[in-house]
Amino acid sequence: MNPTSYLEANKDRFISELLDLLRIPSVSADPAFSNDVLRAADYLAQKLRDAGADNVEICPTAGYPIIYGEKIIDSASPTVLVYGHYDVQPADPYELWHSPPFEPVIKENKIYARGACDDKGQLYMHIKAFELMMQQNQLPCNLKFMLEGEEEIGSNNLDIFVQQNKARLQADVIVISDTGIIANDVPSITSGLRGMSYVEVEVTGPNRDLHSGLYGGAVANPINVLCQMIASLHDENNHITIPGFYDNVQELTAEERAEMAKAPFNVEDYKSALQLGDVHGEAGYSTMERNSIRPTLDVNGIWGGYTGEGAKTVIASKAFAKISMRLVPNQTSEEITEKFKKHFTAIAPKSVTVQVKPHHGGEPVVTPTNSIAYQAASRAFEQTFGKKPIPVRSGGSIPIVAMFKSELGIDTVLMGFGLDSDAIHSPNEHYGIFNFLKGIETIPYFYKFYAEMSKSK
Ligand code: BES
Ligand code: MN
Ligand code: MN
Repeated sequence: MNPTSYLEANKDRFISELLDLLRIPSVSADPAFSNDVLRAADYLAQKLRDAGADNVEICPTAGYPIIYGEKIIDSASPTVLVYGHYDVQPADPYELWHSPPFEPVIKENKIYARGACDDKGQLYMHIKAFELMMQQNQLPCNLKFMLEGEEEIGSNNLDIFVQQNKARLQADVIVISDTGIIANDVPSITSGLRGMSYVEVEVTGPNRDLHSGLYGGAVANPINVLCQMIASLHDENNHITIPGFYDNVQELTAEERAEMAKAPFNVEDYKSALQLGDVHGEAGYSTMERNSIRPTLDVNGIWGGYTGEGAKTVIASKAFAKISMRLVPNQTSEEITEKFKKHFTAIAPKSVTVQVKPHHGGEPVVTPTNSIAYQAASRAFEQTFGKKPIPVRSGGSIPIVAMFKSELGIDTVLMGFGLDSDAIHSPNEHYGIFNFLKGIETIPYFYKFYAEMSKSK
């Protein structure tokens, strides 16, 4: 098998089709874009059909639809389920983009657009790799596609869809390209993801906004109180102070930590890439550990009072914050949300009332590296990158991975091709053309090795 000739002959078209997809602003968080999210689903369903998929269906849900499509070649061959998401994060703040987020441009061999890497560019690699295998008569596995449009807002309707379509989704392994590699010359395969507990808090003081001169000093200012409460959630060692927060955290063994420390990482490069005076985090852990195998608590947004032009002297009635906690095995989102709620309510002074609203959650996962599927992916990367990939636990979250395991009993291989520097969720998100094409080249080898290794099992 040699994917490169087909890739060479068709790469310009592959890129231009991706650019068309990136022109559709499929922002799931903002209802103003709902027609565009639906248009992105139509576009992908058609591309799946064009590539040769059967039974392509845009399945309605209570939210945005899930696209299903399949190619069943032989019931004796292994079945791979490919998952990806066609929704994207909001592009705000627009003014920080060097070119409009939904008018993709190619600069220095990178495609700049919202969703270029997360996840349109990465899911599109799978559709083109499928086309390539169909055209070359080299599809060695049964293939199922499942593409969702609500990943960035918590995949609220995926659970039910999976439960109702267990038979249709039956597969031997799930493959997802929605993560990254260490560097273009240091391939890696993601071997774990953090879970998530996301809450919104509301602190109420007086029953109305007050003049900060007439009342200041005599009543609790909810914004001041919220800041104190939030500050108290970490101690001087940057440990999280919520009682029981670490109870179920699985500590890595010394061997596992030593293994992790072998992955190339330079803290000076890290600091200079982000223009940081210093790194920061939980005492006793390295930067790589802090951002992958340790749980965290971060404020994602905080507001209240007057934030407009000029000054207004006011004590606001309410203050708000959105807080995310990244979880590691064996914490659960339910447990942590409950512990947060209890603690945050308990530390509130009598002068205010506190409400904690849970948003979405997701469970952490560690994927096996001794499975046939992982080994096949590893060989595929070695084939196309010329180097054996390193397994790396990532700090990001894709809650459906743990869900697939619990609902369908199927493990996932996280075969992502992005880079940390791709600025996902940020202004000027981009995806390297090298990475896009490397993905399309690597994926067919995965199928080849996976089919071969499954047979000789
Ligand atoms: N693709 C990302 C997650 C990711 C990126 C994992 C890079 C590992 C490496 C995904 O689209 C995402 O943004 N997930 C959200 C969680 C979701 C529940 C909103 C996240 O991690 O914040
Ligand atoms: Mn993603
Ligand atoms: Mn994302």
